[in-house]
Amino acid sequence: MKDLVRMRTSLKEEIERILNEQIKMEAHSSAIYLAMAAWCDRNGFDYSAGYFYKQSEEERKHMLKIFNYVSDMGGHAISPEITNVPQDFDGFRDIFELALQQEIAVTNSINRIVGTARQLNDFATDQFMQWFVNEQIEEEYVARRAVELFDVIGEEGVGRYMIDKAIPKISYDGGAEAE
Ligand code: FEO
Repeated sequence: MKDLVRMRTSLKEEIERILNEQIKMEAHSSAIYLAMAAWCDRNGFDYSAGYFYKQSEEERKHMLKIFNYVSDMGGHAISPEITNVPQDFDGFRDIFELALQQEIAVTNSINRIVGTARQLNDFATDQFMQWFVNEQIEEEYVARRAVELFDVIGEEGVGRYMIDKAIPKISYDGGAEAE
């Protein structure tokens, strides 16, 4: 029976397993960002709350993109169980440092998938994952810039208010300044 099921998909078991892990990681990111949005709301950082609500939505879209791919390839996409979502954070800056750590972890994970896909000659998955490789350049840039704002603007006086207002305005121009 198992062999028959596998005939319905060209996805190798290892690829299906790591893609399902990535589905879970994206869903976990979505849940963490939602908790961060709520923390920002509770602590008066309205603009940052909006930013994290948006990020949470983005991560859900990432999760679905991989979920649909696994399904479309005839594989078994697993609806993830999400645990260990932190509901409280040490402070305004800590949230953004944690978000940057999360994005770096996602980038490393995406790179591992691409590496495995190449080892196994899975060109479809390799090509599919390139969208995520590019997306992570932007996601990491924005997360890193957010942390930088704490040093550039400073947290004293109206600093936090200014940082909060500046967060949603961060945008990635794809390295246009080098042109
Ligand atoms: Fe889907 Fe921000 O990684």
